[in-house]
Amino acid sequence: SFHEREHWGSKLGLILAMAGNAIGLGNFWRFPYQAAKNGGGAFMIPYFAALLFMGIPLLIIEWSMGRYGGRYGYGTIGPMVYLQAKEGASKKVALVLGALAGAIALSVVVLLNSYYNHIIGWTLGYAWLTATGGYMDPSVDTVSYFVHYIQSPSLVFTFWIITLAILWYVARGGVQKGVERLAKIAMPTIYVFALILLIRALTLGSPVKPEWAPIKGLDFLWAPRWNELNWSSTLAAAGQIFFTLSLGMGIIQNYASYLKKDDDIVTSAVATASLNEFAEVILAGTIVIPIAFTFLGPEGLKSGVGLSFIALPNVFRTMVGGNVIGTLWFLLLFFAGITSSIAMFNYLVAFLEEQFGVDRKKGSSVIFALYILAGLPIALEPIVTKTSELLYLTELDNWVGSYLLVVLGLIEIISAVWLFKEKGLEEINNGSYWKVPKWFYSIVMKLITPAFIIVLLVFSTIDYAKNGYLKVVPDFAKNYPNLIPWVFAARSVMVLVFLLSFILIYRALNNM
Ligand code: PHE
Ligand code: NA
Repeated sequence: SFHEREHWGSKLGLILAMAGNAIGLGNFWRFPYQAAKNGGGAFMIPYFAALLFMGIPLLIIEWSMGRYGGRYGYGTIGPMVYLQAKEGASKKVALVLGALAGAIALSVVVLLNSYYNHIIGWTLGYAWLTATGGYMDPSVDTVSYFVHYIQSPSLVFTFWIITLAILWYVARGGVQKGVERLAKIAMPTIYVFALILLIRALTLGSPVKPEWAPIKGLDFLWAPRWNELNWSSTLAAAGQIFFTLSLGMGIIQNYASYLKKDDDIVTSAVATASLNEFAEVILAGTIVIPIAFTFLGPEGLKSGVGLSFIALPNVFRTMVGGNVIGTLWFLLLFFAGITSSIAMFNYLVAFLEEQFGVDRKKGSSVIFALYILAGLPIALEPIVTKTSELLYLTELDNWVGSYLLVVLGLIEIISAVWLFKEKGLEEINNGSYWKVPKWFYSIVMKLITPAFIIVLLVFSTIDYAKNGYLKVVPDFAKNYPNLIPWVFAARSVMVLVFLLSFILIYRALNNM
C-alpha cells in the first residue's frame, strides 16, 4: 500500500504532538503515587538510570523505526518490525516477530486505552464536580464519594462519552488538522495550569504545622535513600519509564511514521523526552507531592491510585482557593490524558487504513464504537456488582499497562538493532542534527539497553509469580469471590484480542 501519507505540518507541531503523546496521566497521576509508594528518594535513583540507559535509547530507536515504516507506507509496527527483522533473519522468523509485535501493540492500544479513556472521563467529571461543589462539603467522605461516582451510570457515561466524542472528532481531522491542532492548544494549556498549581503548592501554609511544610514533601522525593533501594522499587521505576515515555506501545512509531524521509530524529526524540521529564519530575513532583505531604503526611501520600481522586479532593476543599485549584488540577489531567489517548486512537485508525483500506473518517467512527464496546466492562463492573474494586481494570493494567510493554520493547530492539544491524544506526543518524556515535550504538543500544530490558522482564516475571498473578485465580482476586468472573472476562478478552490480531497480522505480512 503506497498511498500518499500525511506529514506533520511543522517542527513545533510535531514536537508538541509527540510531547502530548508522552505527557499523560502517567506523569501527573501515576508518577507521584509510584514514587511515594516506592520510597521517594530511593525511587529516583533507578528511575534516572532507567531513563538514561533504557528509556532514551529505546525512544530514539522507536522514532527511527517509525520513520522507516512510514517511508514504505506503514504506520503500525507489524510491518515495521517485519521489514527490519527480514534484513537479518529468515522470512519465517521475521514474520513471527512482526506478527508478535503487531499483535501486542494492537492489544495494548485497544485494551490499555479502554480503561485509560475511563480515567480521563473521571478527571473531566471531577473537574465539573470540583467547580460546581460536588464534594466540597467537608462532611462528605471522599472515599465514598469516589465509590458513588464510579457506581453512578449518569456520571460515568456522560463524561466518558464526551471524552470519546472529542477523540473521535480530533481523529477525523487527521494528523495536521486534528492531532497537531489539538496539541498546539492543549500543551501550552497544560504548562500554564501546571505553573499556577506549582506556585500554589509552594506557597501552602500547613493548617497543622505553621512552618513551611511543602519543603518536607520535596525532601521526601529528592533526598536519596540508598539503603531503601531494592528490587521492587527498581522494577517500579523502570516500568514507569516505559509507561511515561509511551514505549513498547507502538504509538511513538505511529507518530514518527508521519515524518519526512530526512527529518531529524535524535534531537527531536531527546527534546520530547525532556519535555516529558520536566512535566513529570519537576511539575508533577513539585505539585502533588508537596500538597499531599503538607496536608496528609507521608502516610497519605501512599494512598496509591486514589491519590488524585480521593486524597487530593480532601485537600482542595480545605485549602484557600481550593475549588479553583482543584478544577485546574482535574482539567490539567484531562488535557494530559486526551493528548495521549489520541495517539492510541490514531494508531487504530491507521491500522484500519492500511489493513482494510477504510478511510480516516469512517475509521474514526469504527474506533469510537470499538472503544465503547471495549470500555463497557470497566463501566459496568462497579455499577452491576455494587463494589468499587475494579478488578477487570486492574487485571488489564497488570498485563497491557505494564508487562507487555516490556516484552514489546525487547522485540523492537531485536529487530531494529540486532537484526537490522548497522543499517539501524544509519537509519537513526540519517537527517539527524545530533548523531548517535558508533560506540553508543554498539555498547548502549545493542547491549546495555536490551540487558536492562531483559533483567526487567525476568524480575517482573518473578515478581508476578510471587504476587500470584500467574495463578488461575490471581491472589488479588481471592478476597472478592463474586468478582472473579470479571478477572476471567479480562483474561479472555486479552487472549482473544491478541490471537485475532496475531492471525490477522501474520497473514497480512505473509502477503506483503
Ligand atoms: N505516556 C502516556 C502517559 O504517560 C502513556 C499512555 C499513552 C497511556 C497513550 C495511554 C495512552 O500517560
Ligand atoms: Na508520560
